[in-house]
Amino acid sequence: MRHCDSELHVTGLSEYTDDVAPPEEMLHGVIFGSPIAHGKIQKLYTSGAEKMEGVRGVYTFEDIPGTKIIGAVIQDEPLFAHVEVMYEGHPLAMIVAESVELGRKALKACKADIEPLPVTVCPRKAFEEGDVLQETRVFEKGDVESVWEHCDHVIEGKVDLAGQDHLYLETNRCRALPIEDGQIKVFSSTQSPSAVQKWIAAVLGVPMHKVEVDVKRLGGGFGGKEDQATHWACMAAIAAMDLQRPVQIVLNRVEDMKMTGKRHPYKQDFKVGLTQDGKILAFDVAHYQNSGAFVDLSLPVLERTVLHATNAYAIPHVKILAAACRTHLPPNTAYRGFGGPQGMFALESAIYKASIVMGVAPEWIQSRNLISNGYRFHYGQEVSACRMQRTWDEASEAFDFEGVKKRVDSFNASNRGKKKGYAVMPVCFGISFTKTFLNQGSSLVHVYTDGSVSVTTGGIEMGQGVSSNMIAIVSRMFGISEKHVRCNSTNTSRIANISPSAASATSDLNGNATINACKEILVGLKEVAAKELGGKPEEITIEDDIVHLKGFATDLTWEKLVLNTYFSRVQLMAHGFYTPSGLHYDYTKKENHPFHYHTYGTCIIEVTVDCLRGNYTIDLARLVHDLGRGIIRSVDLGQVEGGLAQGIGWVTLEELAYSDDGLLLSHSLSTYKAPDGDFLPNDIEVRFLENADNPGGPLGSKAVGEPPFMYGIAAYFAIQRAIDAFRLNVPDEIVSPMTPERVLLSLYDKDSVKPKQPSSV
Ligand code: MTE
Ligand code: HPA
Ligand code: MOS
Repeated sequence: MRHCDSELHVTGLSEYTDDVAPPEEMLHGVIFGSPIAHGKIQKLYTSGAEKMEGVRGVYTFEDIPGTKIIGAVIQDEPLFAHVEVMYEGHPLAMIVAESVELGRKALKACKADIEPLPVTVCPRKAFEEGDVLQETRVFEKGDVESVWEHCDHVIEGKVDLAGQDHLYLETNRCRALPIEDGQIKVFSSTQSPSAVQKWIAAVLGVPMHKVEVDVKRLGGGFGGKEDQATHWACMAAIAAMDLQRPVQIVLNRVEDMKMTGKRHPYKQDFKVGLTQDGKILAFDVAHYQNSGAFVDLSLPVLERTVLHATNAYAIPHVKILAAACRTHLPPNTAYRGFGGPQGMFALESAIYKASIVMGVAPEWIQSRNLISNGYRFHYGQEVSACRMQRTWDEASEAFDFEGVKKRVDSFNASNRGKKKGYAVMPVCFGISFTKTFLNQGSSLVHVYTDGSVSVTTGGIEMGQGVSSNMIAIVSRMFGISEKHVRCNSTNTSRIANISPSAASATSDLNGNATINACKEILVGLKEVAAKELGGKPEEITIEDDIVHLKGFATDLTWEKLVLNTYFSRVQLMAHGFYTPSGLHYDYTKKENHPFHYHTYGTCIIEVTVDCLRGNYTIDLARLVHDLGRGIIRSVDLGQVEGGLAQGIGWVTLEELAYSDDGLLLSHSLSTYKAPDGDFLPNDIEVRFLENADNPGGPLGSKAVGEPPFMYGIAAYFAIQRAIDAFRLNVPDEIVSPMTPERVLLSLYDKDSVKPKQPSSV
């Protein structure tokens, strides 16, 4: 089986939110965003715009009929800026016009008097000024202070990690249609239809049952639409209800980049202590998260940073400071890995620096500290069914880590203008929402009288293949071919209280719910078949569309069985619910079990740096990944390669540049460079663990969406090590992304074209 949308996608026929023919009379909303990053609103001038051709309405904070302040975790965000603007692009007003063009023309007639206030873009500065979103937390295991003196090496450093734009192909958009009796139907490009439903109901001041949200598919979400699709849907809904006409909002790329939050940039301080034989005894790290202007999902993101701060390593003494620092950037938000990558990067930086001081290869340190069964994470969960060592050993052998080292060393010894580097990245990622209550899934399975089946779940198809996975699960549960099964749009009238499609858990939660729904229908089907064939229900199986009795094929086909079941007045539809058991997490407690299970993997990346120009090529990426049994190979492979590509992009090319006064300078695809097919290595080899069923996942599978992102971190250290081979120049502060410009600057002194020291590695 392959991705069920693949043909539609390559022929351009798949429909996204605004592809469906617009209803007559549809209006278009355009957003007037703040031109500066921080200031006090003195006066808004919108009356000029109101009088312009085609304009049907202008909406501001005052025009919100119900709740005016929204927020995923904490209600702190006015839907339109009120009193203060907190970031460039902060929506001040929405113009609703007969066409996008007329709306944009009217936008030019909008003005705002805003008295500028001081702008903070650096989280360290916000922290010093005490501008934090919650009390700063410190997590401790053991006692780091007591062990520094027993360490043979104690190394300190700083990290400056940049953010990342989601760069989904489909920018944020939604369409709201008023219908009879004060109801509203909304098509939204959201990962969280129930959040959209809830907040539309709140801002309109109506019960949730008046709001129907429907999502067929997203042109990518990557976390960016977990919370931040809600705002645009609320705005469109307000205008649609007020004007009693359909209203659509589609952000263009520049607006999307300026107005929406991104991966959180972090600043970090670390101190690591090791013994001579490479054991990490203590790790002390401070995470200063650049949260942006409002809370959004920053607090749960920071929590996952804390949970993944030790990644795949067993460390007896750990201290983690976690500060959510308010800055004048759009509220930063979920992004593949959800704070995990930032947690892991700091420790990899520490290991890299330690390797230089100790004169060893980083992978020597990494391999001596990997977790195994029985180890207790700093959050209290005990490691079980651990496959960390297994993926490491398989990768080390299959990709010949020793051989790579020798080959790279010998290349570097015989080349002056080009240097190679490589790095290994082990990953251990926890699967489950850390907000425990979100770990629930629902599914509605309908078997129609012709034997065709439809499945609706809470899962949002954003390219990751959850629809295909649901089809595969139904087809395997019923023993029928995939061609009988369709996956429907996600709809709040069919499934209630949907958790966001996030945390890589969508297929797990909704897949297990689908299994439960299928099981319920199978009970009736088997009873009917047993009666007809003269056996017991437990002797019935269905394989390849044929009913089997005691393992032997009969004349009864799936279609005939379904029809007989219907005529017997036995249920052919069911709702399945699923929640994993045993989860609990409360950060104030020492004993926690936030994750249903962990996924594991090990990746090696090799690069070549052109030491004259500073640019580089990523030559290969090879990895062993724990997928459990997997559901659909090609879909899983797509997730691994896509995650890897996005991770490489984060630490290499993708640079969000801001001016000191908080204006985004890289706000379009001409100035923000994402990796493309040419940049990515031709040599990508992905191996999945064999015989690795996961009892916690549907059909023995494991979640796959986010973990591969973190393999990309290896690209950063591979490039750094190639630089070191040219000129050992360990930076005091490790700064990511490693753009070619940054490489060039670290190869040479600013005022000299000569390398400062001869090659020493
Ligand atoms: N893959 C595609 N093609 N598009 C996406 O938007 N989002 C990622 C990942 N893979 C994404 C994707 C993120 S952030 C998550 S959390 C998971 O998919 C969500 O889907 P899952 O729970 O089904 O893995
Ligand atoms: N991951 C992704 N999204 C989330 C999480 C999480 O752990 N918790 C709340 N939203
Ligand atoms: Mo993914 S960041 O959990 O949407």
